[in-house]
Amino acid sequence: MEQVSLLETKNIHKWYGKIHAVNGVSFTIDKGEILGLIGDNGAGKSSLLKVLSGYHCQDQGEIFIEGEKVVINSPADARELGIETVYQERALVDSMSLARNFYMGREPVNRAGFLNKRKMAECIDVLKEIGLTINSPDYLVANLSGGQRQGVAIGRAMYFKAKMVLLDEPTTALSVKEVHRVLDLVLEFKAAGIAVIFITHNIQHVYDISDRFLILENGEKIKDIEKAGTSVKELSEVLMGE
Ligand SMILES: Nc1ncnc2c1ncn2[C@@H]1O[C@H](COP(=O)(O)OP(=O)(O)O)[C@@H](O)[C@H]1O
Ligand SMILES: [Mg+2]
Repeated sequence: MEQVSLLETKNIHKWYGKIHAVNGVSFTIDKGEILGLIGDNGAGKSSLLKVLSGYHCQDQGEIFIEGEKVVINSPADARELGIETVYQERALVDSMSLARNFYMGREPVNRAGFLNKRKMAECIDVLKEIGLTINSPDYLVANLSGGQRQGVAIGRAMYFKAKMVLLDEPTTALSVKEVHRVLDLVLEFKAAGIAVIFITHNIQHVYDISDRFLILENGEKIKDIEKAGTSVKELSEVLMGE
């Protein structure tokens, strides 16, 4: 039997007016695989992830999950397909509670149709499991640190059993300790069979955890290489255009 990838894109294009941000990108990712997505500023990394996360629609091209063609028109579509995203930008609603953010779009309700607050309090336990101690589900997201915010998104992926997690520069605003926590969690996703696409500026971080690398330049895929076939030095050189 031919092996079917967890996710495959075929010839994805994304334009913003005249800017051709993603130019014909095709790639695959398997279950439990960590794919490091690298490239210079403006290379199209975030745009490609935003197509997969339903934040933007591709202008051309197709996406397949486990061999089936899918249409991802919104973040809710993506989540329904098992794609969870940890954005570079702040994706949480500051003025709302931790629990409301955690269950955003998937709020459990009781028989009378009201929010099931007791169920929603479970998010505290999930976060504890990934090393984040927050005392109350009613805690305001505005008061969370950068690391805690990432934790909420990561906890969500675990709790809702994502098939794939997209992380766009998740470590940018974090302390050294928090960065290591995120890298460890990515490895936990892998161990749980979850596929990860990881964008970062830090080549060493991405090299340490990734199984394979996809390099974008001006919206195009210029390299798709297994870790065994490359080195930090080589990846840096490709990025520097050498
Ligand atoms: N919302 C947007 N509107 C217009 N242009 C955008 C938008 N987002 C990104 N771009 C442009 O698209 C190109 C790719 O950007 P982006 O995907 O953010 O790259 P990267 O994440 O690799 O830095 C850049 O030229 C950027 O300026
Ligand atoms: Mg970006």
